[in-house]
Amino acid sequence: MILYNFSEISSTNDYAKELLSDEDIICVTAQNQINGRGRNNNVWYGDFGNNLYISFGIKHQNSCTLEFLANLQSIGAIAVKQSLEQISNISYRLKYPNDVYAYDGSKYRKISGVLVEHGFLGSECNYSIIGIGVNINEINFPKEIKETAVSLKQLGISVKIDELQSLVINHFSLLLSLEDSEVYNLWVKELNIIGKEITLVKGLHYYPNDMNIYTAYELLNDGRLVLSNQENSKIIIDNGDTIRYNFD
Ligand code: BTN
Repeated sequence: MILYNFSEISSTNDYAKELLSDEDIICVTAQNQINGRGRNNNVWYGDFGNNLYISFGIKHQNSCTLEFLANLQSIGAIAVKQSLEQISNISYRLKYPNDVYAYDGSKYRKISGVLVEHGFLGSECNYSIIGIGVNINEINFPKEIKETAVSLKQLGISVKIDELQSLVINHFSLLLSLEDSEVYNLWVKELNIIGKEITLVKGLHYYPNDMNIYTAYELLNDGRLVLSNQENSKIIIDNGDTIRYNFD
Protein backbone atom coordinates (compact mmCIF):
# COMPACT_ATOMS: atom_id res chain seq x y z
CA MET A 1 0.00 0.00 0.00
CA ILE A 2 1.48 3.37 -1.02
CA LEU A 3 1.11 6.11 1.59
CA TYR A 4 0.74 9.78 0.59
CA ASN A 5 0.90 12.48 3.24
CA PHE A 6 -0.11 16.07 2.63
CA SER A 7 0.02 19.16 4.75
CA GLU A 8 -3.24 20.72 3.54
CA ILE A 9 -5.61 19.52 0.82
CA SER A 10 -9.30 19.82 0.02
CA SER A 11 -10.26 16.35 1.25
CA THR A 12 -8.28 13.12 1.56
CA ASN A 13 -11.20 11.34 -0.14
CA ASP A 14 -10.90 13.59 -3.20
CA TYR A 15 -7.11 13.11 -3.42
CA ALA A 16 -7.39 9.35 -2.93
CA LYS A 17 -9.70 9.29 -5.96
CA GLU A 18 -7.16 11.22 -8.08
CA LEU A 19 -4.08 9.29 -6.97
CA LEU A 20 -5.68 5.88 -7.30
CA SER A 21 -5.41 5.94 -11.09
CA ASP A 22 -1.75 4.80 -10.85
CA GLU A 23 -2.07 2.23 -8.03
CA ASP A 24 -4.34 -0.58 -6.85
CA ILE A 25 -4.47 0.39 -3.20
CA ILE A 26 -3.35 3.63 -1.59
CA CYS A 27 -3.66 5.56 1.61
CA VAL A 28 -3.86 9.36 1.77
CA THR A 29 -3.49 11.40 4.95
CA ALA A 30 -3.39 15.14 5.56
CA GLN A 31 -2.75 17.44 8.47
CA ASN A 32 -5.65 19.58 7.35
CA GLN A 33 -8.64 19.43 5.02
CA ILE A 34 -10.14 22.60 3.60
CA ASN A 35 -13.23 20.79 2.39
CA GLY A 36 -13.55 17.82 4.76
CA ARG A 37 -16.79 16.04 3.97
CA GLY A 38 -19.07 13.89 6.09
CA ARG A 39 -22.01 11.67 5.20
CA ASN A 40 -25.29 13.19 4.01
CA ASN A 41 -23.52 16.30 2.65
CA ASN A 42 -22.34 17.34 6.10
CA VAL A 43 -19.08 19.19 6.68
CA TRP A 44 -16.42 17.23 8.59
CA TYR A 45 -14.98 19.69 11.07
CA GLY A 46 -11.34 19.80 12.24
CA ASP A 47 -8.50 22.27 12.81
CA PHE A 48 -5.01 22.05 11.31
CA GLY A 49 -2.88 19.27 12.75
CA ASN A 50 -5.40 18.26 15.40
CA ASN A 51 -6.91 15.07 14.05
CA LEU A 52 -6.49 12.02 11.89
CA TYR A 53 -7.81 12.51 8.36
CA ILE A 54 -7.16 9.38 6.35
CA SER A 55 -8.58 7.80 3.19
CA PHE A 56 -7.96 4.38 1.69
CA GLY A 57 -8.45 4.01 -2.06
CA ILE A 58 -9.03 0.54 -3.48
CA LYS A 59 -9.27 -0.33 -7.17
CA HIS A 60 -11.42 -3.39 -7.89
CA GLN A 61 -10.11 -5.79 -10.54
CA ASN A 62 -13.12 -8.12 -10.52
CA SER A 63 -16.80 -7.43 -10.03
CA CYS A 64 -17.65 -6.89 -6.37
CA THR A 65 -20.55 -8.30 -4.41
CA LEU A 66 -22.83 -5.93 -2.48
CA GLU A 67 -21.65 -7.73 0.66
CA PHE A 68 -18.02 -6.84 -0.07
CA LEU A 69 -18.93 -3.19 -0.72
CA ALA A 70 -20.98 -3.06 2.50
CA ASN A 71 -18.06 -4.57 4.39
CA LEU A 72 -15.79 -1.73 3.30
CA GLN A 73 -17.82 0.71 5.38
CA SER A 74 -17.74 -1.48 8.46
CA ILE A 75 -14.02 -2.26 8.09
CA GLY A 76 -13.20 1.45 8.47
CA ALA A 77 -15.16 1.77 11.70
CA ILE A 78 -13.99 -1.54 13.18
CA ALA A 79 -10.35 -0.63 12.39
CA VAL A 80 -10.78 2.65 14.29
CA LYS A 81 -12.49 0.99 17.26
CA GLN A 82 -9.80 -1.70 17.51
CA SER A 83 -7.06 0.97 17.31
CA LEU A 84 -8.66 3.15 19.97
CA GLU A 85 -9.15 0.15 22.26
CA GLN A 86 -5.46 -0.64 21.88
CA ILE A 87 -4.36 2.76 23.19
CA SER A 88 -6.91 3.46 25.95
CA ASN A 89 -9.26 1.85 28.45
CA ILE A 90 -12.24 3.95 27.45
CA SER A 91 -15.41 2.21 26.33
CA TYR A 92 -16.13 2.56 22.61
CA ARG A 93 -19.25 1.62 20.63
CA LEU A 94 -20.12 1.46 16.95
CA LYS A 95 -23.26 3.30 15.95
CA TYR A 96 -25.01 2.00 12.83
CA PRO A 97 -23.63 2.02 10.24
CA ASN A 98 -20.07 3.15 10.90
CA ASP A 99 -19.68 5.86 13.51
CA VAL A 100 -17.46 5.28 16.53
CA TYR A 101 -18.63 6.68 19.86
CA ALA A 102 -16.59 7.05 23.07
CA TYR A 103 -17.89 7.09 26.65
CA ASP A 104 -17.09 10.38 28.41
CA GLY A 105 -18.13 9.21 31.89
CA SER A 106 -21.80 10.12 31.49
CA LYS A 107 -22.72 9.54 27.85
CA TYR A 108 -21.41 8.32 24.49
CA ARG A 109 -20.20 10.98 22.03
CA LYS A 110 -19.00 10.66 18.45
CA ILE A 111 -15.23 10.40 18.09
CA SER A 112 -14.95 9.08 14.53
CA GLY A 113 -16.90 8.89 11.28
CA VAL A 114 -16.41 7.07 8.00
CA LEU A 115 -17.37 8.30 4.53
CA VAL A 116 -17.35 5.60 1.85
CA GLU A 117 -17.62 6.59 -1.80
CA HIS A 118 -17.76 4.21 -4.76
CA GLY A 119 -16.96 4.81 -8.42
CA PHE A 120 -18.93 2.95 -11.07
CA LEU A 121 -18.26 2.12 -14.69
CA GLY A 122 -21.71 1.18 -15.93
CA SER A 123 -23.10 -1.13 -13.28
CA GLU A 124 -19.67 -2.33 -12.12
CA CYS A 125 -18.03 -0.74 -9.09
CA ASN A 126 -14.43 -0.13 -10.15
CA TYR A 127 -13.08 1.68 -7.10
CA SER A 128 -13.96 2.54 -3.49
CA ILE A 129 -12.69 5.28 -1.21
CA ILE A 130 -12.96 4.76 2.55
CA GLY A 131 -12.39 8.07 4.35
CA ILE A 132 -11.97 8.14 8.10
CA GLY A 133 -11.82 11.05 10.51
CA VAL A 134 -10.81 10.59 14.16
CA ASN A 135 -10.96 13.48 16.65
CA ILE A 136 -7.65 13.46 18.49
CA ASN A 137 -6.64 16.88 19.84
CA GLU A 138 -9.70 18.94 18.89
CA ILE A 139 -11.12 20.94 21.78
CA ASN A 140 -13.18 23.66 20.09
CA PHE A 141 -16.00 21.95 18.28
CA PRO A 142 -18.64 24.17 16.63
CA LYS A 143 -21.62 24.73 18.93
CA GLU A 144 -23.96 22.47 16.89
CA ILE A 145 -21.83 19.43 17.73
CA LYS A 146 -20.19 20.52 20.99
CA GLU A 147 -22.38 18.22 23.08
CA THR A 148 -22.33 15.24 20.75
CA ALA A 149 -18.72 15.17 19.50
CA VAL A 150 -15.62 14.38 21.52
CA SER A 151 -11.86 14.04 21.04
CA LEU A 152 -9.28 11.82 22.72
CA LYS A 153 -7.77 14.91 24.34
CA GLN A 154 -11.11 15.80 25.94
CA LEU A 155 -11.19 12.28 27.36
CA GLY A 156 -7.74 12.75 28.87
CA ILE A 157 -5.95 10.57 26.32
CA SER A 158 -2.78 11.76 24.70
CA VAL A 159 -1.59 10.00 21.56
CA LYS A 160 0.54 10.98 18.57
CA ILE A 161 -1.50 11.23 15.38
CA ASP A 162 1.15 9.14 13.55
CA GLU A 163 0.83 6.38 16.13
CA LEU A 164 -2.94 6.14 15.76
CA GLN A 165 -2.55 6.37 11.98
CA SER A 166 -0.23 3.33 11.92
CA LEU A 167 -2.62 1.35 14.09
CA VAL A 168 -5.58 2.20 11.87
CA ILE A 169 -3.63 1.23 8.72
CA ASN A 170 -2.60 -2.11 10.29
CA HIS A 171 -6.08 -3.00 11.52
CA PHE A 172 -7.64 -1.89 8.24
CA SER A 173 -5.24 -4.07 6.20
CA LEU A 174 -5.89 -7.09 8.42
CA LEU A 175 -9.66 -6.69 8.19
CA LEU A 176 -9.42 -6.30 4.43
CA SER A 177 -7.76 -9.71 4.20
CA LEU A 178 -10.67 -11.49 5.95
CA GLU A 179 -13.44 -13.40 4.20
CA ASP A 180 -16.66 -11.42 3.58
CA SER A 181 -18.61 -13.54 6.06
CA GLU A 182 -15.99 -13.00 8.79
CA VAL A 183 -16.22 -9.22 8.38
CA TYR A 184 -20.02 -9.35 8.37
CA ASN A 185 -20.08 -11.47 11.56
CA LEU A 186 -17.63 -9.11 13.25
CA TRP A 187 -19.77 -6.12 12.25
CA VAL A 188 -22.94 -7.75 13.67
CA LYS A 189 -21.07 -8.46 16.91
CA GLU A 190 -19.50 -5.00 17.21
CA LEU A 191 -22.73 -3.16 16.34
CA ASN A 192 -24.68 -5.23 18.85
CA ILE A 193 -27.89 -3.56 17.64
CA ILE A 194 -30.20 -6.54 17.02
CA GLY A 195 -33.15 -6.56 19.45
CA LYS A 196 -32.55 -2.96 20.56
CA GLU A 197 -35.29 -0.34 20.59
CA ILE A 198 -34.81 2.08 17.71
CA THR A 199 -36.46 5.50 17.39
CA LEU A 200 -36.85 6.96 13.93
CA VAL A 201 -36.03 10.67 14.00
CA LYS A 202 -36.22 11.51 10.28
CA GLY A 203 -36.14 9.90 6.85
CA LEU A 204 -38.48 8.16 4.46
CA HIS A 205 -40.41 6.21 7.09
CA TYR A 206 -40.66 8.98 9.68
CA TYR A 207 -44.09 10.54 10.25
CA PRO A 208 -44.46 13.31 12.85
CA ASN A 209 -46.83 12.39 15.68
CA ASP A 210 -46.76 8.78 14.56
CA MET A 211 -45.33 5.87 16.51
CA ASN A 212 -41.72 5.94 15.41
CA ILE A 213 -40.54 3.18 17.72
CA TYR A 214 -39.14 -0.01 16.21
CA THR A 215 -36.91 -2.93 17.11
CA ALA A 216 -33.73 -3.74 15.18
CA TYR A 217 -34.60 -7.03 13.53
CA GLU A 218 -31.82 -7.98 11.12
CA LEU A 219 -28.64 -6.58 9.60
CA LEU A 220 -28.67 -7.58 5.93
CA ASN A 221 -25.33 -8.54 4.43
CA ASP A 222 -25.58 -5.63 1.97
CA GLY A 223 -25.41 -3.32 5.01
CA ARG A 224 -29.09 -2.32 5.29
CA LEU A 225 -30.90 -2.64 8.59
CA VAL A 226 -34.36 -4.21 8.93
CA LEU A 227 -36.58 -2.72 11.66
CA SER A 228 -39.88 -4.18 12.84
CA ASN A 229 -42.66 -2.52 14.84
CA GLN A 230 -45.27 -3.83 17.29
CA GLU A 231 -47.59 -4.83 14.45
CA ASN A 232 -44.68 -6.81 13.02
CA SER A 233 -44.50 -4.68 9.90
CA LYS A 234 -40.98 -4.15 8.66
CA ILE A 235 -39.06 -1.27 7.16
CA ILE A 236 -35.51 -1.22 5.80
CA ILE A 237 -33.11 1.65 6.38
CA ASP A 238 -29.54 2.39 5.37
CA ASN A 239 -28.96 5.84 6.86
CA GLY A 240 -27.81 5.87 10.47
CA ASP A 241 -28.64 9.57 10.84
CA THR A 242 -32.34 8.69 10.73
CA ILE A 243 -32.27 6.62 13.92
CA ARG A 244 -31.46 6.95 17.64
CA TYR A 245 -30.87 4.17 20.13
CA ASN A 246 -29.09 3.43 23.38
CA PHE A 247 -25.88 1.46 23.09
CA ASP A 248 -26.21 -0.49 26.35
C1 BTN B 1 -19.32 11.17 8.90
O1 BTN B 1 -20.14 12.00 8.48
O2 BTN B 1 -19.44 10.67 10.02
C2 BTN B 1 -18.16 10.76 8.05
C3 BTN B 1 -16.96 11.64 8.27
C4 BTN B 1 -15.76 11.26 7.42
C5 BTN B 1 -14.64 12.26 7.56
C6 BTN B 1 -13.40 11.80 6.89
S1 BTN B 1 -11.99 12.79 7.28
C7 BTN B 1 -11.06 11.99 6.05
C8 BTN B 1 -11.98 11.80 4.84
N1 BTN B 1 -11.99 12.98 4.02
C9 BTN B 1 -13.18 13.59 4.01
O3 BTN B 1 -13.45 14.63 3.38
N2 BTN B 1 -14.05 12.92 4.78
C10 BTN B 1 -13.43 11.74 5.36
